[in-house]
Amino acid sequence: MMKSRTLRIALTVAAAAVLAGCSSSGATTAPVVTTAPVVTTAPSAAGKVFTLKDLTVGFIQTGSESGWRAANTASFKETAATEGVTLKFYDAQNKLENQVSAFHNFVQDPSVNVIVLAALDVTGYDTVLAEAKAANKLVVLEDRRIDADSSMYYTYIGSDFINEGHEGAKAMCDLLTAAKVTKKNVVEISGAVGASAGIDRAKGFREKMGDCGITVTATQTGNWGVPESKAVMEAFLKQSKDIQGVFAHNDEEAIGAIQAIKEAGLVPGKDIQVVGFDATADGFKSLISGEMGADIECNPLLAPQVFDAAVKGLNGDTTVPKWVPSQEGQFFAAQGADALNALLKTRKY
Ligand code: AHR
Repeated sequence: MMKSRTLRIALTVAAAAVLAGCSSSGATTAPVVTTAPVVTTAPSAAGKVFTLKDLTVGFIQTGSESGWRAANTASFKETAATEGVTLKFYDAQNKLENQVSAFHNFVQDPSVNVIVLAALDVTGYDTVLAEAKAANKLVVLEDRRIDADSSMYYTYIGSDFINEGHEGAKAMCDLLTAAKVTKKNVVEISGAVGASAGIDRAKGFREKMGDCGITVTATQTGNWGVPESKAVMEAFLKQSKDIQGVFAHNDEEAIGAIQAIKEAGLVPGKDIQVVGFDATADGFKSLISGEMGADIECNPLLAPQVFDAAVKGLNGDTTVPKWVPSQEGQFFAAQGADALNALLKTRKY
């Protein structure tokens, strides 16, 4: 697996170099670049003080797999428009090789002075990170961490997914205790394989689940989507009805599980407790109906912090920490429909 994937990535980088001259237009294809030689853009060029309006950001998004992702993309497009940032948006359609080739092309693009990556996977970027470093291109990670030496990027702005997992386990413990169940068998619908959000939520949940004797009896990816997660939950229920809880890695996966639970003649929030992540509007609706018991927030509105950090980076500021954790909370069906509806009205996602 590793060898062929690394080979595929290396081939992708090479292919991207070849393709760069002849790609068609449209956001989802590799950015068109002139064949001008790479310009080394040393941060804080002598005497120049960069501002938001000086940013030309090559933004490599994962794809459009969830409501959370749509809110994250909107945060970048809207903030760029408001602040006068030039945004070259690339939708990788959830393919790692697309991200790597776009990254390579943004390194080659003399107009781009900052590359922002929402990483699909925790590995696979070493080659292009080294290229960016050699070309003195500022790199900022947003949303997801990667397994790379932090000297290869300026800063990472994103969630503490392990802590989210802790909060998820605590919430599941409270829900199962309130439901007065003796057994605590929980099935897990995990995020896309390789994504730090899923890896770390799973780790965090397992670090705390022992506090009330939870056992994860089955786990499978739902790839962040409703239909696939519904099918996964249907299969879990066919295997065993001895399930007291669902640990779903995002709202879409929780909603898919809820649909399957209902079609199996069971009552979500009563027969089976459901915990989700993101706290998007759809998640809130499931809390308000009582079908989801808890929703652990993941904040998608990261663009302002990312652009501010990019300006600091171009101005040679060395005080920005390597990780800036996002501010986020937790929401519970127990807060009641009125309070949750009032909150929902104030939220941007
Ligand atoms: O990285 C954040 C995760 O990515 C969200 O929880 C999920 O909805 C999205 O796909």
